[in-house]
Amino acid sequence: MTRAISLHDVSKAYTRGVRVVDRFSLDIEPGEFLVLLGPSGCGKSTVLRMIAGLEDIDEGELLLDGEYANDLLPAARRMAMVFQNFALYPNMTTRDNIGFPLRIEAPGTDPCPRVDTTARMLGIEDLLDRFPAQLSGGERQRVAMGRAIARHPTAFLMDEPLSNLDAKLRNHLRAEISALTRELGVTTVYVTHDQAEAMSLGDRVAVMRGGVLQQVGTPRSVYALPRNVFAAAFIGTPRINLLRGVVRAPLDGAMTISLGKQYLRLPEPLTLDHQLLRVQQGREVIVGLRSEAVRIAEPTSARPGEVHITGLVEHVEFQGHEVLVHFNTGSRPAVVPDLEAPRPVPPVRRRRRDAGNVLDRLRTRAGALRAGPVVTLEHPADAAPDPAPPEGRLPGDLIVRTTPDFDLRHGMQVPLLVDIAHLFVFDHHGERICPDPARLPDLEE
Ligand SMILES: Nc1ncnc2c1ncn2[C@@H]1O[C@H](COP(=O)(O)OP(=O)(O)OP(=O)(O)O)[C@@H](O)[C@H]1O
Ligand SMILES: [Mg+2]
Repeated sequence: MTRAISLHDVSKAYTRGVRVVDRFSLDIEPGEFLVLLGPSGCGKSTVLRMIAGLEDIDEGELLLDGEYANDLLPAARRMAMVFQNFALYPNMTTRDNIGFPLRIEAPGTDPCPRVDTTARMLGIEDLLDRFPAQLSGGERQRVAMGRAIARHPTAFLMDEPLSNLDAKLRNHLRAEISALTRELGVTTVYVTHDQAEAMSLGDRVAVMRGGVLQQVGTPRSVYALPRNVFAAAFIGTPRINLLRGVVRAPLDGAMTISLGKQYLRLPEPLTLDHQLLRVQQGREVIVGLRSEAVRIAEPTSARPGEVHITGLVEHVEFQGHEVLVHFNTGSRPAVVPDLEAPRPVPPVRRRRRDAGNVLDRLRTRAGALRAGPVVTLEHPADAAPDPAPPEGRLPGDLIVRTTPDFDLRHGMQVPLLVDIAHLFVFDHHGERICPDPARLPDLEE
């Protein structure tokens, strides 16, 4: 049996007034593999522990198969949790570690057949008589998985189960977990702060920040239509380029987005999405360009929809099959706080919105975000560029992915073509306004 898990406006506060999980709502289908993704401290484990019954729910409802379950004892939920630190009993062999929960659940029944089947499934038959100290990290994690599987749980709740392992083993076990949970068809909620892991494992990914669900959808849809700069920046490598710009929409001329020293001219006739940007005239926005939206090429080879800018090579990152080139285009990157922040932000009230703005109203309908601004624009966009790059970033404001064929060196001035069809525009609060925010295919409110 597998479970549907629903959370409706669930909140949790350890300290009065600071919700570490804030009105969290999500419906997880039976058999689905859902990944909770977000930076450290954003409340992922707390959500998982509330589903498991290890943490009380302060407000809101948990439904299991549609039945109210806030007060159901953890054992009655019949869910299996797999933790980061494996949590095996050191004085028990693999066989006893896997069989122990079975003995507790059904005293007097021989757990051996189930233990043997599980061990076969995981390829750990040879390890049944060893103690945890005699196992490698990967083997221990398999035993921990075995202990979870043998119970035939109604759901797997996995809290960063692979983060203690080296990269190679992590990739290997990731594939195993994916295959195994699919084979068993058991609902799985998997917590990670690793976006690559989330993208490769999840049927859907739920992105969290500061205790608040930002967006939920298939990995593809969240990547293609991030709801705000946080979701855009958290998902995808290299990280999306976020540049500060100003919309210029003169009545008698072409519409452009000024990026400090250069500008992007929106191709005419304007698309519906670009027409909507008109109301942003004179306002500061954030332009989002994934590395695949920009290519190195002469203006003469521009395809329809591509516009030309230039970039000064600041740094070249050789990655073997491809090269990441860090350009300086004279624009300024937007700073997205909390991407790796350790603490959630206490909820703050938004300023009253400009009642006449259509896009603001659209955004309100899509659901206002809580947990503080997702972006900070502390200086006006037209001020002189900051001399120092934001912490942790190499110099340059635009990263472009290219083949290793180009011989690019520091200081070269290079022509770039930007594919406007792949342009994201976010408003000064960091919420997406282009493509049209009404396109929210998988968003659950
Ligand atoms: N028992 C507790 N008492 C007080 N605060 C707590 C407790 N447990 C968690 N917190 C706080 O709640 C917030 C969310 O914690 P949680 O463990 O859910 O984060 P997380 O997203 O799982 O982070 P990580 O990726 O680092 O594991 C953090 O700020 C944390 O300090
Ligand atoms: Mg955690």
